[in-house]
Amino acid sequence: MDAIKKVVIPVAGWGTRSLPASKNIPKEMLPIYNKPVIQYVVEEAQHSGIENVVFVTNRDKSVIEDHFDYNLQLENVLERAGKLDKLAVVRGVAEMVNIMAVRQKKQLGLGHAVLCAESIIANDPFAIMVGDDLMFGGTPGIKQLIDVAVAENMSVVGVMEVAPDKVNKYGIIDASEISPGVFRVKNLVEKPACDQAPSRYAIVGRYVLKPEIFKYLKEVKPGHGGEIQLTDALQGLAKNDGMLAVKMSGIRFDAGDWSEYLAANIYFGLQDEDLHYELLDKLKNFVQFK
Ligand code: G1P
Repeated sequence: MDAIKKVVIPVAGWGTRSLPASKNIPKEMLPIYNKPVIQYVVEEAQHSGIENVVFVTNRDKSVIEDHFDYNLQLENVLERAGKLDKLAVVRGVAEMVNIMAVRQKKQLGLGHAVLCAESIIANDPFAIMVGDDLMFGGTPGIKQLIDVAVAENMSVVGVMEVAPDKVNKYGIIDASEISPGVFRVKNLVEKPACDQAPSRYAIVGRYVLKPEIFKYLKEVKPGHGGEIQLTDALQGLAKNDGMLAVKMSGIRFDAGDWSEYLAANIYFGLQDEDLHYELLDKLKNFVQFK
């Protein structure tokens, strides 16, 4: 498989889990420490050698594209004020990657969102990153999949082991381990009931897929929740073209879950030397008062 140069990032969801914060601000623009959630996802792509980001977006989300563009007015203000470090930061965000956007005009599910990007992806293998899933530490998350996909010339999904009572929140794989941390996928099921899950290995929002996926996306009927599910289309790809799963390493935060979102803020806050001790003192106080 050729190097992966494009990633599809679906961002057209309502963000109901993040209400009321996401009422008028896209959930992808909520900050974790000093950056919006979506910037961490795009940085992971950039650090994995991906140059082209395709946002699948809707009419209320153009601020996401703007974040990765120049803001000349702001740059002028910073330049005149001599705030050159801040100028470099805001300019740097505009220079990270090429940005493309395609509209998902009806919100029919993750699979439908990916299908909206078909004409931009054309016949190249590509990555998909779910914007709520943040991965940190060691090899960038999507790079872990790209390395295996390119070496084995196979589509690859990223998985992590989850608690038995959490399997109904994820796509779950039915697979056999062929080498440490690498699985051959036999089947996948979207959000199974806890007692019917084929394993505890959950897809964590990272995929590297061959373009054949579009054929299956066009064939699948609405599945879980009445939506066009990417997981259902992956069943066809796994059965006919073969698919691997890679057990991902690193820390994962689900930015749509408040406790994980807040934990991610603390994680990054503690890594800032200027904040570390003050923040730690405050946290210790909170714990004492409890
Ligand atoms: C989506 C996918 C699911 C996957 C999850 C990872 O679900 O449909 O298979 O496990 O992302 O975050 P969602 O979280 O959009 O309901």
